[in-house]
This record gives sequence, C-alpha cells and structure tokens, in this order.
Amino acid sequence: MTTSNPEWWKSAVVYQAYPKSFRDSDGDGMGDLNGIRSKLDYLADLGVDVIWLNPIYVSPQVDNGYDIADYRAIEPMLGTMADFDALLGEAHEKGLKIILDLVVNHTSDQHVWFQEACKSRENPYHDYYIWRDEIPNNWGSSFGGPAWKYVESVDQYYLHCFAEGQCDLNWDNPAVREAVYDEMRFWLDKGIDGFRMDVITLISKDPALPDGPVIQNKAYGSYYAGCATGPHVHEYLQEMNREVLSKYPGIMTVGEAPHTSADQAVDYVGAGRGELDMVFHFDHMHLDYDENGKYALNRVYLPDLKRVMDEWQEKMAACGGWNSLYWSNHDQARAVTRFGNESEQWREKSAKMLGVALHLQQGTPYIYEGEEIGMTNADFTSIEQYRDVEALDTFRDFTERKGFSAEDTLELLHLKSRDNARTPMQWTSGHAAGFTEGEPWIEANPNCDHINVKAALADPDSVYYFYKQLVKLRHTRASVTDGVYVDLAPEDESVWAYLRRAEDETLVVLCNFSDSAVEFELPAEVSWESSELVISNEDAAPGELARAVALEPYGAVVYATR
Ligand code: NOJ
Repeated sequence: MTTSNPEWWKSAVVYQAYPKSFRDSDGDGMGDLNGIRSKLDYLADLGVDVIWLNPIYVSPQVDNGYDIADYRAIEPMLGTMADFDALLGEAHEKGLKIILDLVVNHTSDQHVWFQEACKSRENPYHDYYIWRDEIPNNWGSSFGGPAWKYVESVDQYYLHCFAEGQCDLNWDNPAVREAVYDEMRFWLDKGIDGFRMDVITLISKDPALPDGPVIQNKAYGSYYAGCATGPHVHEYLQEMNREVLSKYPGIMTVGEAPHTSADQAVDYVGAGRGELDMVFHFDHMHLDYDENGKYALNRVYLPDLKRVMDEWQEKMAACGGWNSLYWSNHDQARAVTRFGNESEQWREKSAKMLGVALHLQQGTPYIYEGEEIGMTNADFTSIEQYRDVEALDTFRDFTERKGFSAEDTLELLHLKSRDNARTPMQWTSGHAAGFTEGEPWIEANPNCDHINVKAALADPDSVYYFYKQLVKLRHTRASVTDGVYVDLAPEDESVWAYLRRAEDETLVVLCNFSDSAVEFELPAEVSWESSELVISNEDAAPGELARAVALEPYGAVVYATR
C-alpha cells in the first residue's frame, strides 16, 4: 500500500487483533483470518488506520504462536495463505494497513533450523542457536525453570529465555541474520505495511552470559542481565534497516522493548539512528509490581504513572523519536480493570477517561481488541479455566513454592493474568459472546450479556462511539500529533492535567482518575479565554474553560484554547 507521507504512522491509530480470540469463522472454537476479514468493516468504521496481528504462522502454540515453526506458512488453525492474501487485499481496499508480528529472538523447537541444529555440533544449523557444554549462569526462563535445556544428541544445553519450546537464536551468526532478513522480505514483498518486533531488545546476548540478579522472588536470576540492549543490538538493527526495511519506504516498525529505559530508547528510535520508528516500553506496566513481580494487588499511584509517561513524552520529543501509547495488549490485564474502575457504575465513564488520557498524548495510540467497548478482565474462578503457559506456571510457583493459597493465587491471576486479555472478543450477548458457533478455546466472559459490540453500536453514548471520536481527533487536529506535551500538575493525586501546545491552538486535557468529584485549578500561565470544548465524557461539561474546572468522578474534558 503506497502512502506519500513516510511518517504517516504519526497521525495513525493502530488496532491490535489477537487472531485466536477475535472471531471464529468456521466453528472450531478458534479465531481465524476469515473471522478478522469478516470484521474489517467494523474496524474501518471505528476509523483506525492499522491492524496489528499477533503471530499467524505455523506454530505448536506452546506460547500462542510466539513459538514459530515456519515463518512462511500460515498456522492451519487460523487459515491458509489464500485467506491471508484475501485479508490483506480487502484491508487495503478499505484503507486499512496490516502489520505482522516478527518473532525472531527465538524460534520453536519444531522449526527445521532447530531440528537440524540438534543433529550434531557440525551441522550448519547448530550455530543458529546458543549452546553451552555446561549451564553457564543462573538465568531462569520467563515461564518457570532454568533458561537452559539439555539436548542429549549434542550433549549441550541451549538457551531459551521463554518456554523450552522457544529457542533463542544466535544473532552473532551472520547466517541467522540473513535468514531472518529473508523471512522479512517474504512478507514485505506480499505488501504488508510493517512489523511489530517481539522482544527485539533481547536479540544480542552478552557473550560473557553473566549471572543475573534474582528478582521477583523467583528461584532463578534474570536473563535481562545479559540479553537486554546487548553489545551488538544497535549494529544488528541498523543492518536490518539497511538490508531490508529501508528498501520498503513507508512501512512502520514498532519494537517491543522489555527492560529498556527512556534514555536507552533514544538509541533505538532517535532521529537519524536508522533503527525503529517507535518502541513499546514497560515502565507504566511495572508500577503496580511488588516483590513477586507483576502478580500483585497494588493499584497504580497516579503521580508515579505521570512521572514515567512524562519522561517518555519529553525524551522521545527531544531526540526526534516517537512514542507508542498503550494501556493494554495480549500480555496485560484489561485497561478498565487495571487503571480505571470496572464497577457497573463507573466502567464506561472510566474507560472513556482512560481513552482521553492516552490518545491525546504525543505518539501512536494502540487499541487492544475489546478496549473500544470497555471489556473487563476474565471472570475465572478456577485454574482449569486458564490457558496461558505463564498463568499455569505462576499458579504452580505460587502455590507449591511461595506458600500462597490457591484462593489468593487465583485472585492475583484474576487481576493480572495474560488470559484476561485473551478471552473471546464480545460481539453479541449470544453463545460465546458471538465469537464462535462452536466451543471457544477459552471461555467468554458472561458479562457479554451487556458488554458487547452489538449493544455498543446501538448506544450513541457508548465507549465505542467515544473511541471513534478520539480516533477522529488524531486524524483531524494537528495539535494532537504535533503539540508539545506539558504536564500541568505532576504531583496531583487525582487529576492528570496536561497541555498539547501547537502553533494554532493549545489543547488542555484534564482527566480525573478518582471516583470523587474534584476541582482543578489551572495554573496562571494557562490562558482559559476563547476556548472551545473538544471532547468530554461528562453529561454537562461547560462549553468553555474556566480558571477552576469541576470534574465529575472519572470525568475527562479537553478544551482547545487560542
Ligand atoms: C512478548 C510477547 O508479547 C509475549 O506474548 C510472548 O510470550 C513473549 N514475547 C515471547 O515471545
């Protein structure tokens, strides 16, 4: 798809569809490509520009497709290559772009490269992976147990930072890099519009493979010590850019960047670096962690949230980089449950407020499927209902090793498990939320009886129509894309108040994160004259700004001043 402005993604909104859970077209209980195809009009109507698809390639599904066995073939459960071609073609006809997940820190142990690598130490594919004769360090895998696994045929251990079936590639081998670039060209030649790059900050390993600190109350050390922003990561990304990305002008790239600070991100996305367009950072996702890591009951403290978001706003702007803005994705709890208030009284109001707080910042906003109708966390009460490798491992770890009761562990999973994001997209109030005619691979949330697309489309006041307005604002107001971000009250515990200062107007964005009414006094330097209300989730927000602004619980108002 050709676009004249190579930085079109700066005024775009991305919608993330998790193929397994979006829409099942053939009744096998599993979402698929034709299911996504059948909903393109829905996405075009929402107004988004890009659809990001989680991995759709052949995979044993140890980690829901993040363990790829063949980069050039479609996972049969999800459809065929003809289905993909049709999806891409129809999306383009409707003005929607498609970006794919590029998972090249590791492959599946079923990938032919790994199968060959295990045949002998002399096999040319052996050096595609990272092997040691002895376990060299204390690294633990993200999904439990050590990060090294023994293979008898070669009498060596291979590295897997994630599940055993996700074997880390050896990027120091030029043949690996060339092979990866070839896979990328295959998809770019088909006309896709870019890549979301899985854990791309981990591809270059420190050859010393140093021990990592034992964090998160786990039995093993963190592999980040020797994997995150390793010695050659920038060299490899610049090479990838030179060899592949630069040959396809107008594509977009977003790198998932675990364990990356805003200062480090400057080198990935800063102007002139020739690496990535933007990264997903995790700083705001870590604010409610405790000594057990993410499985904690903490709520995010607003001044902390503003501190990290302010830092990214300021540092990306200063380096000529760009932010990606997200509250949720397939690895995170539902936004309204985690950052808003999912009670019946406040669900819709707080979902809209969160939309305003995020979408009016500088960067490219990402909407995770269901966020646009205010979907909540799953309603699971038993471990049998969970599917995710991480949830199952956490349950074992917390109940068998850390001494938590099953009940307490289930409460933690209920709040934070990745499966919260993976329950079926709620299309209707019918069987399995209208996701499938068969038995869904993971249970639908019973609250689909009132939280569903059909109901949202019938209600002019729904979260859906509010999101539609937010998307439109990004397309129509230059201040939303270009305005300089200024936090008006970083220490305020209830209100996130910021400006977007542009040449022709300044946007004043006020979001009440609390369940009480509050009054926010504008600082003297902000002009409140000749203002107009741009968007609001309140019943009767005044048409003009005042020095003291009364905000309803979870109220959000945006004014433009000149
Ligand atoms: C990040 C992905 O978002 C997550 O779902 C996956 O488990 C890991 N990377 C490993 O690929």
